[in-house]
Amino acid sequence: MTPPLLELDHVDAGYGPFRALFDVSFSVAEGRALALLGSNGAGKTTVARVASGLVAPTAGHVRLAGDDVTGVAAFRLARRGVAHAPEGRSVFATLTVEENLVLAFREGTKRGHPGVDASLASAYDLFPRLATRRGQVAGTLSGGEQRMLSLARVLVQPPRLLIVDELSLGLAPIIVSEVYATLGRIKAAGTTLLIVEQLVSHALGIADDVVLLTKGRTGYVGPADELGDLDAHFLG
Ligand SMILES: Nc1ncnc2c1ncn2[C@@H]1O[C@H](COP(=O)(O)OP(=O)(O)O)[C@@H](O)[C@H]1O
Ligand SMILES: [Mg+2]
Repeated sequence: MTPPLLELDHVDAGYGPFRALFDVSFSVAEGRALALLGSNGAGKTTVARVASGLVAPTAGHVRLAGDDVTGVAAFRLARRGVAHAPEGRSVFATLTVEENLVLAFREGTKRGHPGVDASLASAYDLFPRLATRRGQVAGTLSGGEQRMLSLARVLVQPPRLLIVDELSLGLAPIIVSEVYATLGRIKAAGTTLLIVEQLVSHALGIADDVVLLTKGRTGYVGPADELGDLDAHFLG
């Protein structure tokens, strides 16, 4: 049997003496989308960081396509096709919009994606607002525009595994819908998704599987269509 693309196996993790995750286990099969849901402070971002190699587990294992990658650095996992769009804005503040995109797309072109010009055109197609601000220094964009810029980087040249953390945060509802439509197309083209969201409706619209996290521990782990009433899980 093919191993899952991503597997967390009895993972504990934290920050210094603080433990944020307790015995977290779940896996995502290649080509599927998993929604990681939970309230503020539940540990969702920490799971995303463990999956992308930014936080090393203190116990347990992380596997990528069956290989043990526990403790492997984020830049090495990135080379193996893992991309992480972190919470908030991750842009080079002193570079222009277009310079930010060109930097990201040049890297992707090495991995067999179409050229920089085609990727720029797709980015401006997806976020027309970025096209009108292509010469503007990224640090002076609004919060929502910076979010679009950091998402364009990963949505236009999809990786093998895409981890998106609170992608709806700071975006207007109509743009959130467009971004989720794009995620749907990326998934249809074969990218595996780990979607972290506090707002569940969009995430559940695309997810095959769901993991519920409460205070660093997993509750429900299973198919999205067997989840039932979400409130019952959180209130129960
Ligand atoms: N860099 C950090 N240093 C110390 N504690 C952190 C750090 N990041 C998160 N935490 C703590 O870890 C716990 C889980 O946080 P997080 O994974 O960000 O949750 P979520 O994304 O579900 O809101 C929280 O108690 C938070 O305060
Ligand atoms: Mg978070």
